[in-house]
Amino acid sequence: MKVIINLMKITAIAPANIAFIKYWGKKDEKLHLPMNGSISMNLDSLYTTTTVEFIPGLKNDQIILDNNSEIAVNRMITHLDIMRKISSVNNKAKVVSKNNFPAATGLASSASGFAALTLATSHALGLNLSQKELSIIARLGSGSASRSIPDGFVEWFEGESNETSFAQSIFPRSYWEIVDIVLIVSEKEKDILSEGGHQLAFTSPFYSTRLKYIDNKITKIKNLIKKRDFYHFGQLIEAEALELHAITLTSTLSLIYWLPETLTIIKLIQKWRNQGLSAYFTIDAGSNIHLIAEKKNIKTIINKLKNLKEIKKIIINNPGKGARLSNKHLF
Ligand code: DP6
Repeated sequence: MKVIINLMKITAIAPANIAFIKYWGKKDEKLHLPMNGSISMNLDSLYTTTTVEFIPGLKNDQIILDNNSEIAVNRMITHLDIMRKISSVNNKAKVVSKNNFPAATGLASSASGFAALTLATSHALGLNLSQKELSIIARLGSGSASRSIPDGFVEWFEGESNETSFAQSIFPRSYWEIVDIVLIVSEKEKDILSEGGHQLAFTSPFYSTRLKYIDNKITKIKNLIKKRDFYHFGQLIEAEALELHAITLTSTLSLIYWLPETLTIIKLIQKWRNQGLSAYFTIDAGSNIHLIAEKKNIKTIINKLKNLKEIKKIIINNPGKGARLSNKHLF
């Protein structure tokens, strides 16, 4: 019997996410199995939209991105191959993908990108996958993409195998009115991608200490979110961000993701905090700063930030939805 699959043009939107407890280091490079679990929040103002269509007779995959770098295109083709294998469809696809923010500046474009590609491709191939399966497949594209599939506040379980390493929502986005005020100090592409950084983590003499305490940190942060204890939550996420950068700085080769502007802002935030401001920073593998605050304080904070010459752009994010379908196709 011949199975006829209805191939359709599908569009999906997926958010970037900010990790409060970071993913840094892999125990399986190919499967993107992390050395530790991580905790994040989806960001409602930073997202990727991706349209996918498998077209009979197309000779090669046609991938159109904001920045058509060969590495990014090849990573997407590899991901399409993984999903073609699951569905046993062999057609090539046309894919158009757009970020509403600059790619590769440490704003997690690979997370939103692979989450959107995974969801759109699964439907375009007629696959009926659970959220857990989508998270697992997104992880194969980029580890942090596993966390951009579920809604709101998310935990990615470390897992021991392909099937056990996936992300799940731990609190809905309405649970806590906190915001991530993204402070863009540079829109230039970062010169070191996070992929290399993951490998170098093991060369830092402090990495094994980090791993010893990380499960404890995850338990703590989940509790603080549950209690909506902003003060202790803020202290913990800031310490965690500095720990990640302590690892990158002490790797061989040393990776310095910060720019002078990054440090200026960090010092300013700490100074303001001594004067009573309730806001804490976190930074991923990049130079831009995520300032986490309670929603009620946005106005005061923006007033303080808006005239700083180091900041090129400010993007305010509420906790966001996970990956979802859209009917606004890009082609
Ligand atoms: C610092 O998910 O970009 O943002 O799995 O190699 O694609 P790959 O890495 P990626 O790493 C993200 C690292 C981080 C921390 C985090 O998001 O948890």
